[in-house]
Amino acid sequence: MRRPRRNRKSPVIRDLVREHEVTVKDLIYPVFLTGGINIKTDIPSMPGIQRLSEDLLLKEIESCMKLGLKIFAPFPNIEESLKDQFATHSYERNNIYLKAIKKIKKEFPEAILMTDVAMDPYSSDGHDGIVQNGEILNDETIEVLGRMALAQADAGADIVGPSDMMDGRVGALRDMLDEAGFEKTAIMAYTAKYASAFYGPFRDALNSAPKAGDKKTYQMDPANQAEALVEAELDYHEGADFLMVKPALAYLDVIKLLYDNFDIPIAAYNVSGEYAMIKAAAQNGWLDGEKAMLESLTCIKRAGSKVILTYFAKEFAQLQKL
Ligand code: PBG
Repeated sequence: MRRPRRNRKSPVIRDLVREHEVTVKDLIYPVFLTGGINIKTDIPSMPGIQRLSEDLLLKEIESCMKLGLKIFAPFPNIEESLKDQFATHSYERNNIYLKAIKKIKKEFPEAILMTDVAMDPYSSDGHDGIVQNGEILNDETIEVLGRMALAQADAGADIVGPSDMMDGRVGALRDMLDEAGFEKTAIMAYTAKYASAFYGPFRDALNSAPKAGDKKTYQMDPANQAEALVEAELDYHEGADFLMVKPALAYLDVIKLLYDNFDIPIAAYNVSGEYAMIKAAAQNGWLDGEKAMLESLTCIKRAGSKVILTYFAKEFAQLQKL
């Protein structure tokens, strides 16, 4: 009789036959930057995560590096008075984001930084593109994204992450980066980014929710799978170095689809709402937060995502060190 339980008999056997295992090297830690000095503010919908001023972010990065966690994706919380329709502050060299990127790379040259290319943190409309008469302009937005990506690459970004979902932006950014001599700057494309309710806590963190309307004319419909292949094909041929699926847990089929069809690394963004759900349930004693975290991350990797962006990254790294 075939008895699959033989391979589950003991922890050592289970270790031997385990097909997928997450390590700290697979993880990218998204972190929130705010202005000022010695500022640390809680984000109520993301227990355990704070917005940090540059000085404290440097300390946080130092402590993560000691745990073997070396890849960070900072996002800026921008003062409302600095936002405008065209997100012009996003490429002003003295903004808190570009200054922090420069500083982090100077203090921790071996840290890898992935920057966010999208207008929303700097947009008075809270959208990822330029809003005109209620519409999101595509090609005009790409010009802004290009300036932003060049400024970030110049500040030392290793990977730029266009999270905006405008058509044609990966190819345009690749050309602009190459022309400016940043041919070593990689692009992690937010390829299949869905119009998801699971981004709520992130928008609290950055105060970046749309002032009007929603993001459904640029982010994908959660009902669609085949369309992810169209997006992936475009990003692949436009020169992306990684293809990302976002969110992760409700979209494991999409991760698998891209994994099966493309030969570059697939990434998944285990988003703020996915983090918040586990934290909230754990705080209520409704489930074991650590186990739920490990299971989620393992399943995201099993689906085909080598790279995982997750707010659990530091907690995971701490657990592995124990
Ligand atoms: C926007 C952006 C979003 C996230 C990353 N970049 C939110 C949005 O599209 O509104 C969400 C990340 C998360 O929820 O953790 N450019």
